[in-house]
Amino acid sequence: MNYTHKGRIDAIYIDPPFNTGAKDWKYNNNYVDVNDQWRHSKWLSMMSKRLQLAKSLLKRDGVLICAIDDNEFHHLGCLLEDIFNGWEMHCVTIVHNPRGIQGSNFSYTHEYAYFVFRKGLKVIGARRIKAEDIDWRSLRDNGGESLRTDARNCFYPIIVEDEKVVGFGDVLKNDEHPLKQTVKKGNSFYVYPIDKQAIERKWRYARQSVESIQHLLRVKKTAKGYEIEIGKDFGTVRTVWQDSRYDSNENGTKLVHALVPDSTFDFPKSVFNTYDCIAPILYERKNALVLDYFAGSGTTGHAVLMLNKEDGDSGKRKFILCTNSENKIAEEVCYPRINKVIKGHKDYPDITGIPANLKYFKTDFVDAKPTDRNKKKLVDKSTEMLCLKEDCFDEVEKGSDFKIFKNSNNKYIGIIYDDDGIESFKKEAKKMKKKFVVYVFSLDESAREEEFEDMSDMVQLKPIPAVILNVYKRIFK
Ligand SMILES: C[S@@+](CC[C@H](N)C(=O)[O-])C[C@H]1O[C@@H](n2cnc3c(N)ncnc32)[C@H](O)[C@@H]1O
Repeated sequence: MNYTHKGRIDAIYIDPPFNTGAKDWKYNNNYVDVNDQWRHSKWLSMMSKRLQLAKSLLKRDGVLICAIDDNEFHHLGCLLEDIFNGWEMHCVTIVHNPRGIQGSNFSYTHEYAYFVFRKGLKVIGARRIKAEDIDWRSLRDNGGESLRTDARNCFYPIIVEDEKVVGFGDVLKNDEHPLKQTVKKGNSFYVYPIDKQAIERKWRYARQSVESIQHLLRVKKTAKGYEIEIGKDFGTVRTVWQDSRYDSNENGTKLVHALVPDSTFDFPKSVFNTYDCIAPILYERKNALVLDYFAGSGTTGHAVLMLNKEDGDSGKRKFILCTNSENKIAEEVCYPRINKVIKGHKDYPDITGIPANLKYFKTDFVDAKPTDRNKKKLVDKSTEMLCLKEDCFDEVEKGSDFKIFKNSNNKYIGIIYDDDGIESFKKEAKKMKKKFVVYVFSLDESAREEEFEDMSDMVQLKPIPAVILNVYKRIFK
């Protein structure tokens, strides 16, 4: 992914193995148990490599979220501080198991989520608040500096029809004085910021900015007309989360069992836990790309789709889920679960039935020693990775040594697997008269520009496997 998605991810959510000592993860193919004297060291080593790679996958305003419990909470904190030196780090406590896990002295009901992002960025802050929790207050100012004369642009009528705010009138001239706080005009009511003592005050928002908060306003009927109230349905994220929605049994294990009856995976997160972690970052980022590389049953993908569902057609967030497929979890739980979320489940109409495309890839190790034979092999195996990088999956042309793909935005890529493919690709590309990103086979770092001189305005050339190997070299020093 550091080749295909460097600097492209908006949010990374991970829920790594917690290293409980109950053989919940493998290091070098062996389960790590509670008596392993290198238990924490092994876990840190595994996490350290993955977090460093994750850092370079993030966009400049990207956010890393990492779930954890008390087994590694402090070690993880130090590791994050080290790798993300100088970044902001925050941690929320989430009550995910209200029944508690019994210890000899304490019963643990909570876990944590760290949030990490570059200092000073305003990436988090929009928390949707439940309707009953919204704090409503009058839009009319009171107290000091609340008079009409303190801000003339804040004295205008708010137009109400059918008990809804439907518009705003012009600012009144200084010598215009409404007769009453609510004035009826035809089917409309014009509401002015006049208080009960008939003193002309001002609205909290000037005429030029009030439209931007129209959706936060509500109308309240009074004996003499209407009052206008404002209620913010968002706020900063609080640091302790306690809600039955986070119960991992109810909204994790049971949910996954309903979606994938054969699931043998016992530790999915509550989908609302993951949803509430990513939502504040992604509400406004409707085309965001989200990554989870400890995906397990795919809860993160489910949460991203739920966000898309809320936005209707404008929600186009994507996700990439990776998992090591212990107990075939990728094939037998994660993929079928997301498929079911897309298709819909009758018992979960609110959080399933969300149209999307889904693709499934298997990764494998490729010998990357730069011999000519390995280079050919690598290019042979790279098609899907290049399609993923360029987001072009529709195969439109296939020759013996080249392929052409496009996407719905009319982007075209060509992949040339062998020297012989160059001429046949060129012939086809000239017929199609499109611009192409062309991955062209080359044993060295040259992109074969001389062979494309006659169509240099149509092609952007990239030598493979050199561009891929260079990333391998950087990562596996
Ligand atoms: C705590 S679970 C994640 C659960 C997930 N959030 C969910 O709700 O289903 C951790 C997952 O990471 C996977 N895993 C463990 N080591 C891994 C590795 N080195 N690379 C990728 N996945 C790994 C495990 O198979 C397990 O499914």
